[in-house]
Amino acid sequence: MIRKWWHDKTAYQIYPKSFCDSNGDGVGDIQGIISRLDYLKSLGVDIIWISPCYPSPWADQGYDISDYYNVDPRFGTMDDMDQLIREARRRDMYILMDLVVNHCSDEHEWFRKACEDPDGKFGKYFYIEDMDPSGGVPCNWRSAFGGSVWEPLPGHPDKCYLHIFHKKQPDLNWENPEVREEVYDIIKWWMERGIAGFRIDAIIDIKKALPFRDYEAGRDDGLCDISAMLENAEGIGEFLGEMRDVAFAPYKALTIGEVFNEKYDELEDFIGENGYFSSMFDFSHVVEGQSRLGCYAHRRIGVDDYKRCVFAAQKRIGDTGFFSNVIENHDRPRAASYYLPESGRTEAGKKCLALAYFMLRGLPFIYQGQEIGMENTVFSSPYEFDDIGTIGEYHVSIDAGLSEEEAMKVASLYSRDNARTPMQWNDGHNAGFSEADPWLPVNPNHKLINANEQTERSDSVYSFYRQLIALRKDPEYRETLVWGDFEPAYEDREGLIAYCRRADRNLLILANLKSEPEKIDIGCEYRILLDNLDPVITHKDETQRSIQLQAWQGVLLELIHPAFEKKHKIG
Ligand code: GLC
Repeated sequence: MIRKWWHDKTAYQIYPKSFCDSNGDGVGDIQGIISRLDYLKSLGVDIIWISPCYPSPWADQGYDISDYYNVDPRFGTMDDMDQLIREARRRDMYILMDLVVNHCSDEHEWFRKACEDPDGKFGKYFYIEDMDPSGGVPCNWRSAFGGSVWEPLPGHPDKCYLHIFHKKQPDLNWENPEVREEVYDIIKWWMERGIAGFRIDAIIDIKKALPFRDYEAGRDDGLCDISAMLENAEGIGEFLGEMRDVAFAPYKALTIGEVFNEKYDELEDFIGENGYFSSMFDFSHVVEGQSRLGCYAHRRIGVDDYKRCVFAAQKRIGDTGFFSNVIENHDRPRAASYYLPESGRTEAGKKCLALAYFMLRGLPFIYQGQEIGMENTVFSSPYEFDDIGTIGEYHVSIDAGLSEEEAMKVASLYSRDNARTPMQWNDGHNAGFSEADPWLPVNPNHKLINANEQTERSDSVYSFYRQLIALRKDPEYRETLVWGDFEPAYEDREGLIAYCRRADRNLLILANLKSEPEKIDIGCEYRILLDNLDPVITHKDETQRSIQLQAWQGVLLELIHPAFEKKHKIG
């Protein structure tokens, strides 16, 4: 595969509302991000994806954009944004904006004009349909946050518009070439300002299976999950190929797709040599265990499920392209709280999990706070949820017959708010995030878990992430850790994530993600490059051919048998 400048980089996601508040209004902002660039640089971060900071009514926390050519005044000004792009560049860092163009906000002027004149130019920017006289809507699709995708068009009780997400997020009609032109103009405008590219939101949803029709209902509400429609939508490639050629390619934009529900054989089209995007997230483990009935029916996955999913994804992608690897983002619970059982929710467990995913083939992403080991927060009543998705899931659980206590438990575990609590900078007032009361309360555990404490200690989770990033960039190991083959090892051992990365070196990653020790016969001599239980280890030679891993111990070994051959399978 052709090598790209970003392959050996590390990416970091900032959720601007919760990262750092510079002006004391309880909401993070762009100057706050600028003030923390050196923190990120020192961690080893190169690429920064910023979740939406455009003007927005914040119905879905900025994923409902009312003006694509500005920043929300609560985050700062365009001058601040230009300064951020410059300051990042000065540090050899790259900014990715979030491109949210499946839908806009109902407060965007396009939608306002569409409501004024549904038959005019802007009416055609959206999916606006007639309702039948009895109020019937065109089809039975369910929106991502609950209820029908159809909502009466304001001012026109005989018409309705489509929203796959919240009703304040009307879908843009990509079948209309004028809409696509608008999108390409937005992309070009931001690229001209000096950003490196985009993370691309909910992109699979832009192609609808038309004409509208019902699919089999999945719940008592008579509605079908939107994925039923997506399975039947053909031809998204025409839109995505055009966007690549017209808007991304001239700028050599780095583009990371948020792609769910792609068809199995489409991977090459999406992120192969001339793919629509540079990369896309591997969400195989995110969707695993999910039920169309709602969170209450999800099966919570463990370490072995995670391993099965990502190993299958790594085998599937092979050398076709480069996945982006994540264990956290703003839509997920914190990884330590979700993937690790209580006994593993320690610094050792968090580092071990970090090692397991970070050395997979692909571009590693870190979500803000993950590098200091942040965990899920505590909710004691449904009124404490801020996220529309979580509130919806709470009610779905109640409707399905769960008690209030059970519904709280489900919603708390999966709540997107877990990842959105303010970044924990120190153990002081509001965790050092803001002088004012933050928009979402800080996690009470900031007294123990915070960046100040983490950066001062050489055996902290933060220091371990720093080591992981540095090792992946080390000229001695980069070839292997970035571009080397992925090869599963000891695959049938429970609670063990083990794989080789092979190129000019033979490296073996062993992550013992369980409470019991595990003895492993390596079959050749090795040296330990990284050990989560002994942070000072560097290049420690072992003469033994086996290793006894402690509970929650993760090591990265270089295999040094002189006659070691690629054909020799480990495990
Ligand atoms: C993406 C975002 C999520 C948002 C949704 C609608 O999945 O990551 O936060 O709610 O799109 O824009």
